[in-house]
Amino acid sequence: MGRHVVCAVSELPPGERKIVEVEGRSIGVFNVKGSFYAVRNRCPHKGAPLCNGLVKGLVLGPEPYHYVIEREGEILKCPWHGWEFDLTNGRSIYNPHKIRVKSYDVTVEPADDEDLSIETYAVSIERELVVLHVN
Ligand code: FES
Repeated sequence: MGRHVVCAVSELPPGERKIVEVEGRSIGVFNVKGSFYAVRNRCPHKGAPLCNGLVKGLVLGPEPYHYVIEREGEILKCPWHGWEFDLTNGRSIYNPHKIRVKSYDVTVEPADDEDLSIETYAVSIERELVVLHVN
């Protein structure tokens, strides 16, 4: 359990993801329109690497032969069988009360007093870091 620096904020622009290995778990960290979310990289259906899936919007059909796409960039689609998950909370779109992927808190923190190792950051002038909190 703990706090793990993922990268500088500038290294993870909106619409991008970064998959990290933390405490024996593969976790995907996503930048969704400037907000950061993290989910386990293992689909609850059959164990696919969920975080390699397509990030898309929520397709709604308010009436026959019409559809609208809302919440663009907030929905993660499993690459194996297409189950969809809400990146903001890990809940399944189809069955949100029973099926969910583990989600984790992500914060953006100032880099000023961070101990950045030379192996990870050769030179850093970044002001903020993406930090994953695993519980
Ligand atoms: S393994 Fe993800 S939907 Fe089947």
